[in-house]
Amino acid sequence: MKFITSSILTPLAGLLSVVNGLTLDVSSADSVKSVTSTLAYDMMTYYSGNQTGQVPGILPGPCESTACYYWWEAGAMFASLINYWQYTGDSTYNPVVSQALAFQIGPDENYNPPNQSKNMGVDDQAFWAFAALDAAEANFPEAGGDIPSWIALVQAVFNFQKDLWDDATCGGGMRWQVYSFNAGYNLKNTISNGGNFQLAARLAYYTGNQSYADWAVQMWDWMAASPLFQTQDGNLYIWDNTNTDNNCIDVAHYAWTYNYGTMLMGAAYMYNFTNGDAMWEQRVQDILNGAYLLFFPTEYGGNVMSEFQCEPASNCNNDQSSFKAYLSRWMAVTTLLVPSTYDTIMPKLTASAAAAAQQCTGGDNGRMCGRRWYASWDGTSGVGQQMQALSVIGATQINSGIAPKSIKTGGTSKGDPNAGSDANASPSVTTSKITTADKAGAGILTVLCIFIVIGGSVWIIL
Ligand SMILES: *[C@@H]1O[C@H](CO)[C@@H](O)[C@H](O)[C@H]1NC(C)=O
Ligand SMILES: *[C@@H]1O[C@H](CO)[C@@H](O)[C@H](O)[C@H]1NC(C)=O
Ligand SMILES: *[C@@H]1O[C@H](CO)[C@@H](O)[C@H](O)[C@H]1NC(C)=O
Ligand SMILES: *[C@@H]1O[C@H](CO)[C@@H](O)[C@H](O)[C@H]1NC(C)=O
Repeated sequence: MKFITSSILTPLAGLLSVVNGLTLDVSSADSVKSVTSTLAYDMMTYYSGNQTGQVPGILPGPCESTACYYWWEAGAMFASLINYWQYTGDSTYNPVVSQALAFQIGPDENYNPPNQSKNMGVDDQAFWAFAALDAAEANFPEAGGDIPSWIALVQAVFNFQKDLWDDATCGGGMRWQVYSFNAGYNLKNTISNGGNFQLAARLAYYTGNQSYADWAVQMWDWMAASPLFQTQDGNLYIWDNTNTDNNCIDVAHYAWTYNYGTMLMGAAYMYNFTNGDAMWEQRVQDILNGAYLLFFPTEYGGNVMSEFQCEPASNCNNDQSSFKAYLSRWMAVTTLLVPSTYDTIMPKLTASAAAAAQQCTGGDNGRMCGRRWYASWDGTSGVGQQMQALSVIGATQINSGIAPKSIKTGGTSKGDPNAGSDANASPSVTTSKITTADKAGAGILTVLCIFIVIGGSVWIIL
């Protein structure tokens, strides 16, 4: 299983850092530009989808092999390149990004391509929609031709996911998996529900349409009342998943950066959409405080982000090795949408960026990044490791000139509220039966890590 074997430590790594690696001065835009350009280049060495005979939008797989990346992570990677373009002005990757985002829309034009059905989770689809949202909010050039606009693609995903709301168990929310034949269909997890929450909040912000905000409120309320949210000693904990088999009476006690990140991002958009509603500001602050407590451990100085659930034990899988990219990006955008958060977020992004850079000393080129920002190179490398460093270092360049656009503030992507509404969203669709083994580790994570991380790693016991 890849996330155990990939964690071999390389004792020499620390020594090599003396002569190799990246030199970053976080206070210099030129230095950030140069370092992120190298990080993006090295990340894209994993991608060959734009070459003749390859499939645009796909990273190496399938996930039965060791060096594999699920479909969702490719969507996340293209989003990180849109962000990179905004942070630095370097448009080198824009054509590759555009080609991939256009190629993977699928026949229903809603990021549910048939090749991915056997793994399709609400979260997987959401990450491609986040990329399309980043494109719309940045006025990234539309793909053109007969490809719907970026924002229409997001609306199509939203319209598809709306039909997945499930009142039959746990009083609402969405199941992780779209199709009932997929393992994990029994779970309702934070990244799926929180991913959908973020989509709704960002659509409300971009289009100004209150219906999306109403949906975001409905989703937040269900999640907050479920065991996914827990407040103890004044701290908010956001757990990973709950199980419909027992009507969601308990919860898997895992805390991941991207779960906090997606709730943070959605709440920040809602704060901004409501023109500064104090309730949403409090929610933003509660999530941030929870994230600071867990993911910025005082033992590493209190400002360096850590995926504490898997980094110390060195058993993060390829999905988990990318999660800090999303919290980094979403914290950065939060400083713009909720200006009162700027002063606490920026020191954390800046220190994390410096820490991320200092450990990029691995691989044959002597500059590949590992997962642990709080230590020297941990002997691992991959798309996620590069993306995390790229995202947090780029995030130091966040500024009001690249605040997410909306229709009101110059966003040019033309919406279509009915996009994709003729797509078949029936979760009971039956195609060929997929076995559990086939599915193992698919979608974004959870099922496997629940069983494997137990005993091996730090986890929170309340
Ligand atoms: C594919 O994209 C890379 C950048 O990641 C670029 O250097 C290369 O020229 C592209 N290849 C083709 C065939 O377009
Ligand atoms: C689906 O897979 C087939 C076979 O590999 C490939 O030709 C096609 O381009 C893929 N479509 C997408 C959208 O990835
Ligand atoms: C607002 O969004 C809802 C939900 O998708 C849609 O039914 C409605 O037509 C939209 N309204 C406008 C004015 O676009
Ligand atoms: C909403 O975000 C914009 C863009 O960053 C910002 O200028 C504005 O002050 C924010 N609104 C509120 C109420 O904070």
